Amino acid sequence: MTPTLTTDRLTLRPPKASDHAAYAAFFADPEASHFYGGPLLPYQAWERLSADVGHFALKGFGRFVIERDGAPVGGCGILDVAGWPGHELTWWLLPAARGQGNAQEASRAVLAWAGDALGWRQVETHFRDENLAARRLTESLGGVKQRREIFPDGHARDIYAIPTRAEVTA
Ligand SMILES: CC(C)(COP(=O)(O)OP(=O)(O)OC[C@H]1O[C@@H](n2cnc3c(N)ncnc32)[C@H](O)[C@@H]1OP(=O)(O)O)[C@@H](O)C(=O)NCCC(=O)NCCS
Repeated sequence: MTPTLTTDRLTLRPPKASDHAAYAAFFADPEASHFYGGPLLPYQAWERLSADVGHFALKGFGRFVIERDGAPVGGCGILDVAGWPGHELTWWLLPAARGQGNAQEASRAVLAWAGDALGWRQVETHFRDENLAARRLTESLGGVKQRREIFPDGHARDIYAIPTRAEVTA
């Protein structure tokens, strides 16, 4: 069963149908969703939400919805997409929820869960070279560049490894 993770300010829980409004708002915004293939129409955002629900069933881990003050403000978790080189710590935030450390706080909870529940010593992530916010976030979590790969979409990306709590306390 998918757990619910809590931090000082946030709840990370499995995605559900009522999250569609938050997904649709994120993917309707061309700037906000640029690195996730946006902008997308609401039905396409529903498909992304469905994929997030399904990933937990397929792999036993996935991308949680981040709630703050009872409302969904983004997503954070681990995706392992078939055919892509390695898994990925991943995040998105609605624009109003950025610049407050929400992604860092959510990531720390996911990294602790990956170490404690999944037994992973590190979690990988990757992002496009132009995604400076993702790079800053990865470095703030202790991520270290491992290698560079050409992805199936034709873009080259640096792949980072971020230590989980299991690695940090080993
Ligand atoms: C990537 C993304 C989640 C980062 O969001 P973010 O809010 O910048 O990330 P953080 O949680 O690390 O917050 C850091 C910012 O909060 C500020 N902050 C405020 N309070 C803070 C706190 N208590 N703790 C930490 N940082 C805090 C920091 O100073 C920093 O501000 P700055 O960006 O002006 O330097 C966001 O840019 C996003 O949703 N992008 C679109 C989706 C995307 O591209 N995802 C990655 C695909 S590979």
